[in-house]
Amino acid sequence: MFIYAHRGSSGYAPENTMAAFQMAVDMNCPGIELDVQLTKDGHVVICHDEDVSRTTNGQGFIKDFTLEELRALDAGSWMDPKFHQEKIPTLVELLDLVKNTEMIMNFEIKNLPFYYVGIEQKLADAIKEAGMEDQAIISSFDHYALQTIHKICPELKLGLLFSTRIIDPWIYAQQLPYPVYSLNPDWSFVDSHYVQQSHLHGYQVLAYTVNERPTYEALRDIGVHGIFSNYPDQFM
Ligand code: G3P
Ligand code: MG
Repeated sequence: MFIYAHRGSSGYAPENTMAAFQMAVDMNCPGIELDVQLTKDGHVVICHDEDVSRTTNGQGFIKDFTLEELRALDAGSWMDPKFHQEKIPTLVELLDLVKNTEMIMNFEIKNLPFYYVGIEQKLADAIKEAGMEDQAIISSFDHYALQTIHKICPELKLGLLFSTRIIDPWIYAQQLPYPVYSLNPDWSFVDSHYVQQSHLHGYQVLAYTVNERPTYEALRDIGVHGIFSNYPDQFM
């Protein structure tokens, strides 16, 4: 099974920070998942929530901060004071860390509740600049964002994220105006029928977020292709 470090190795270091990404690299993790958003001045940054208050010492929406303002925030102390120097990373920083590795990167476009106009172009440009087109999967709960990035860069692999139990997602995927690489559901939606039908229709199943051993084993036994985990080392 393919293991992605979810928001980096976020069980051990603050999520979506360089410390968490470096840890995934040091663990020889095969893949990393991360969430991208846009600042007020148009920089692609890595953060899960649209609001900085849970994971930094600041308050407000990412879309209302310039990069310089965001970089002044402490993105690590909320987890442990020893991480006080961690910042919200830029996409470029992360790419510099991984571009000479063999890792597969799952870039999740966070387009809800705010729609970040132009984020797809910026993400595609940065991936191309780093020469990582073959090592990238773009996913989103916003399936229109995947359509947009497909038009910009058709060679990128696309993963459909699902936060609800829609009926027959493999049928839904087939009628989209772009080719789908993977179905990325919450792990609790997945059973052997789900995996069989997905594979039959040509899709990988990448399940989030798996942190418990029994869940990992159940998914492995029904043939799930990959998982996202905060503790990737436990399942490698
Ligand atoms: O991409 C898998 C997973 O990260 C999706 O959910 O909320 O953790 O970004 P979330
Ligand atoms: Mg994510």
